[in-house]
Amino acid sequence: MTRPIYLDYNGTTPHDPAVIAAMRPFLESEFGNPASSHWYGIAPKQAVEEARKKVAALLGCEPGEILFTSGGTESNNHAVQGAAWANRVKGRHIITSAVEHPAVLEVCRFLEIRGFEVTYVPVDQTGTVSPADVEAALRPDTILISIMHSNNEVGTLQPVAEIAALAREHAILMHTDAAQSMGKIPVDVKILGVDLLTLAGHKLYAPKGIGALYIRKPLMLEKFCHGAGQEMGRRAGTENVLEIVGLGKACEIAAQTLPDCTLELQALRDRLHQGLMNSLSEIRLNGHPRKRLPNTLSLSFKGLEANRILEEIGLEVAASAGAACHSSSVTISHVLQAMQVPLEWAKGTLRFSVGRMTTMAEVERAVEVVVKAVMRLKAED
Ligand SMILES: Cc1ncc(COP(=O)(O)O)c(C=O)c1O
Repeated sequence: MTRPIYLDYNGTTPHDPAVIAAMRPFLESEFGNPASSHWYGIAPKQAVEEARKKVAALLGCEPGEILFTSGGTESNNHAVQGAAWANRVKGRHIITSAVEHPAVLEVCRFLEIRGFEVTYVPVDQTGTVSPADVEAALRPDTILISIMHSNNEVGTLQPVAEIAALAREHAILMHTDAAQSMGKIPVDVKILGVDLLTLAGHKLYAPKGIGALYIRKPLMLEKFCHGAGQEMGRRAGTENVLEIVGLGKACEIAAQTLPDCTLELQALRDRLHQGLMNSLSEIRLNGHPRKRLPNTLSLSFKGLEANRILEEIGLEVAASAGAACHSSSVTISHVLQAMQVPLEWAKGTLRFSVGRMTTMAEVERAVEVVVKAVMRLKAED
């Protein structure tokens, strides 16, 4: 059986063959504990520190500012909770946006129950946060602003540098969740001016279960995990050497392939968009028309249900839904709701996301499959 064309790179990415090759020795022979002082610890320890340098090089920071985590969710938890608990004497107010990933929103809700106050700034119809809204939400007791670098559903890029400048002016910490941006567009922590930045390996052709958090020196967060002194004493537990090596390699490749990769992704994504627009009417693009991830295409098909389209195309194209329709109700994603996408459009929303392994031939075929499916469903109506 041939596999469906994979257009869900924002969901996760395949492993880059070079990432697999870099990891192989640590699966097959280099099993040592990096903390061991004997011979077996040498290669794993060196590999972890090499990987740290590669992640730091991609982000434009020092290796000592990179903390390895289990992924985007843990990095966000550590950033938001770590900053909140470490600064609770100074203040208990946090600012975030209505379109963050649940790995930020749910942490904020958890903190709200424990006495913190959170302002969820709105977005406009393109999914963009306004720095003026963030400024208006500032309070003397604000300790943290967490605004994502790019949105996972619609791809909209946020004005993070502008918001970080505001944060700095008021001596407030600034975190950004860049899980979706890494490898797709250049991301530099110094240019952004952020204190904390989240990265997730499996959006970057490395395995699932590995990520990193940039923590600007000399910032101290509340410790994430108590135990032995790994990861500069911040996160206890024997290092996930295998995947750390994979993440390092993935970051090295990302640094080498940017900025060309951005243009290649954009060409594939735009061809997909154009192909669908040429044959179908009543399509709406969600997200910012220009300030958007180069690989992301969130489209609403008016009057249709996303799950029905996915069922129709599922054997040939893998994409994801922006809304889930049940027998008597429709659940629209919080992102589309925040962007005020009208219901008759929102419920028929699909997210297509291309990646480094996508070919133009796959895009052309996907256009044919989606066009046929949408026409069939419209004829049934
Ligand atoms: C923007 C964003 N943040 C965080 C995460 C969570 O990352 P992980 O799956 O590595 O925990 C994701 C994953 O979908 C994401 O898209």
